[in-house]
Amino acid sequence: MNDGVNTSGGRRAGVTALGAYAPERVLTNQDLEQMMDTSDEWITTRTGIKRRHLAADDEYTSDLAKRAVEDLVARHGDDALTDVDMVIVATNTPDALFPATAALVQDHFKLSAGAFDLLAACPGWIYSLGVARGLVESGQCRKVLAIGAEALTKIVDWEDRSTAVLFGDGAGAVVVEPVPEPYGLKSVVLGADGSGAHHLHKRATGRCLPGGDPLSETLYMNGREVFKFAVRVMNTATIEALEKAGLHSDDISLFVPHQANLRIIEAARERLSLERERVVVTVDEYGNNSTASIPLALRTAVDQGRVHAGDHLLLVSFGAGLTWAASVLTWGGTPGGAL
Ligand code: ACO
Repeated sequence: MNDGVNTSGGRRAGVTALGAYAPERVLTNQDLEQMMDTSDEWITTRTGIKRRHLAADDEYTSDLAKRAVEDLVARHGDDALTDVDMVIVATNTPDALFPATAALVQDHFKLSAGAFDLLAACPGWIYSLGVARGLVESGQCRKVLAIGAEALTKIVDWEDRSTAVLFGDGAGAVVVEPVPEPYGLKSVVLGADGSGAHHLHKRATGRCLPGGDPLSETLYMNGREVFKFAVRVMNTATIEALEKAGLHSDDISLFVPHQANLRIIEAARERLSLERERVVVTVDEYGNNSTASIPLALRTAVDQGRVHAGDHLLLVSFGAGLTWAASVLTWGGTPGGAL
């Protein structure tokens, strides 16, 4: 699904409100040194991660999602949720296989809305933007609450140092609704290659992947293969998203990539010939919190005063599936003015 064209007769969907949440509990690299055979030096040089935020023992993905929406309301007012008629929670760590985590969010805020979860690994939040855009531009929905929320640290194997040091928890939420020109989602690129499923998986109800590989009880990742895949698709997906939007990397004010590994972000930045000032990096503080990473990074950039109405933002992500997604979003267009 690669659609940069606005076919909705002028109605373009954009982001009009944003909130995010990171749990209070923090685990530093030094803490990890006490728990396993690793070092701050190894983690920092290989990944750029210094700390990660962990959900409390009794805090789950739905709780994180609700806190992100509460932050959105605190920033934009109760009206931000008025007319929300669909809730999407992109997550790999739902509270339950069913009911959908999105339904728990819908009930918590007493929204008169449909609700469903979306599973497309780390790019799931950009996928949710793509789905929200379709729902809004087709006129099926007035406003969509698109959330990325993750309690990944509950499914990592804390005995496996090659993955345990990488992940964190968090959530981010946006409202997607029609915005005036020149704002809104200018392109959304969504892709998948299931032949790489064996590189990154966790069991739900199945036993094996099609190739025969047994599904892992905890998060399994072939880091080297995912690294190579990530560097490749971050490049191809961003180029495609820029082309669909009719823009060049020079036009991009801010690059907001999935926060998995600083080396992967750096490789993508160099290929796009972007200066460091135009890249948002939060992996040092949060580690990889999958679907939450881009909205959380976006909120950080907003709080730092780095995002302005009319700015073209380039978003990109990759993950299990294998999947990828990229989007160009022109920031702003809220009825009340700047976001
Ligand atoms: N501390 C110390 N040593 C470690 C650790 C650790 N935490 N983890 C692994 N090592 C060791 C390995 O055992 C290996 O030792 P050996 O050479 O004696 O066998 C050595 O470090 C090198 O291991 P590599 O796996 O080759 O390290 P690499 O440079 O590839 O870095 C990493 C590993 C960081 C996982 C990298 O491959 C990576 O970032 N891959 C992409 C992962 C990713 O982005 N995933 C996210 C997408 S999916 C999602 O978000 C859910």
